[in-house]
Amino acid sequence: MTQRKKPRGGGPRRSGARAGAGQQPEKLWSGRFRERTDRLVETFTASLGFDRRLYPYDIQGSIAHCKTLERAGVLSRREVVSMIRGLEEVKRELETGRFPFDPSDEDIHMAIERRLTELIGPVGGKLHTGRSRNDQVSLDLRLFLKEALGSLLEGVRRLQQAFVKQARAHLDVVMPGYTHLQRAQPVLLAHHLLAYVEMLERDRGRMQDARGRLDVLPLGAGALAGTNYPVDRVYTAKLLGFSAVTENSLDAVSDRDFAIEVLSALSILMMHLSRLSEELVLWSSQEFQFIELPDSFCTGSSMMPQKKNPDVPELVRGKTGRVYGHLLALLTTLKGLPLSYNRDLQEDKEAVFDALDTASACVEISAELVNGLTVHRAAMARAANSGYLLATELADYLVTKGMPFRKAHETAGRVVRACLDEGRELRDLTLTDLRAFSDRFEKDALDAVTVEGALERKSQIGGTARKRVEARIRALERALG
Ligand code: ARG
Repeated sequence: MTQRKKPRGGGPRRSGARAGAGQQPEKLWSGRFRERTDRLVETFTASLGFDRRLYPYDIQGSIAHCKTLERAGVLSRREVVSMIRGLEEVKRELETGRFPFDPSDEDIHMAIERRLTELIGPVGGKLHTGRSRNDQVSLDLRLFLKEALGSLLEGVRRLQQAFVKQARAHLDVVMPGYTHLQRAQPVLLAHHLLAYVEMLERDRGRMQDARGRLDVLPLGAGALAGTNYPVDRVYTAKLLGFSAVTENSLDAVSDRDFAIEVLSALSILMMHLSRLSEELVLWSSQEFQFIELPDSFCTGSSMMPQKKNPDVPELVRGKTGRVYGHLLALLTTLKGLPLSYNRDLQEDKEAVFDALDTASACVEISAELVNGLTVHRAAMARAANSGYLLATELADYLVTKGMPFRKAHETAGRVVRACLDEGRELRDLTLTDLRAFSDRFEKDALDAVTVEGALERKSQIGGTARKRVEARIRALERALG
């Protein structure tokens, strides 16, 4: 068999050697190739531009892998000491921006291994024993997500605290509750604010669930079939803080459910932030005038001097689409993939990174917005007191006097119709006016049909009665710290 030389700088592999000027360095996998990788392909396939942020996890994983190989009798103590020292030096270089990136490093995994070998010599070439970038990249992404989800969970908790604080500070503020964006029944502003705390509580639950399910060590799956070396995967899992190890190597290298779950949880979180943003935009409009956003969180118009625009909530609302897009993109990337690893999977990282960065920024700025809200309680109270929000109370009053609800609803409807015709509010009516519609109306009717009474009576679990809302605030303050 003749050995053909590679056109440029080929020949016997110089493990770890770097190329001179104008020469591309050897790839770590160049053994079976006769030709160099085309520059275009190098650029097209590279992930280094975005996966470099995985470096702390890559190094953490490599150190654990070294220790596991030592325990398995594959590496000597001396080799492991030198490798760990080298990896720590690589990490320092990356942290301080001194790391010599090379355009021909495909990804962060290869860049780190290449540099390690430059620093400690050929023994660096032993690091990848029993490992593949396929199990390695899944490991890195899981480690990254565990940490990133931890700080996002903390951010969401701070946002919840902001809502609870505002709810406590505005316990006596009444506003119209809406359905179909039509005034419906009076509610406490605090009750409305706490609705978001419940949504965010479910968001945190979803993120915790996702984190629990991705807390599984894939290392040891090798490229797809497992590894020949007698590695103790449970030991590696312990070193890296994983609760379990994957049970199927093919699944381990091809599964990205965990990333999809995170993107899905983030999409739902963003949907909630977007709904909040929409309300902030509406409520701060001239039409509502329920709230004022802090000047420092609004922007002006380059043309209209009077404008104070709610750009921040608008952008949170706008960025929601971007996070949904990442979820859809990854679902689509995965839908046609045969087992096991396929390079398509490299597309997961930009989606995950951008979704997390976006959601984290939106959570943080939303907390600032909520903290900085000024509430126009008089405008809210005015709105709660007009528009027949007590019509249901009127019907319920008639029910207490023995009228079937359907009939009571019809009667109250006729009262509202008459008021509309005469341009009057319910509170303008006298007992005589009411008795024209039904003789079940008695003296106590006028006292029963008030905003305060309406609120007070919603005293079941989950209702807007002040006592209930206060109790929920107390429970949340205890739970959220
Ligand atoms: N950069 C790759 C990724 O993000 C790492 C795994 C590459 N594996 C391979 N067989 N080419 O998925």
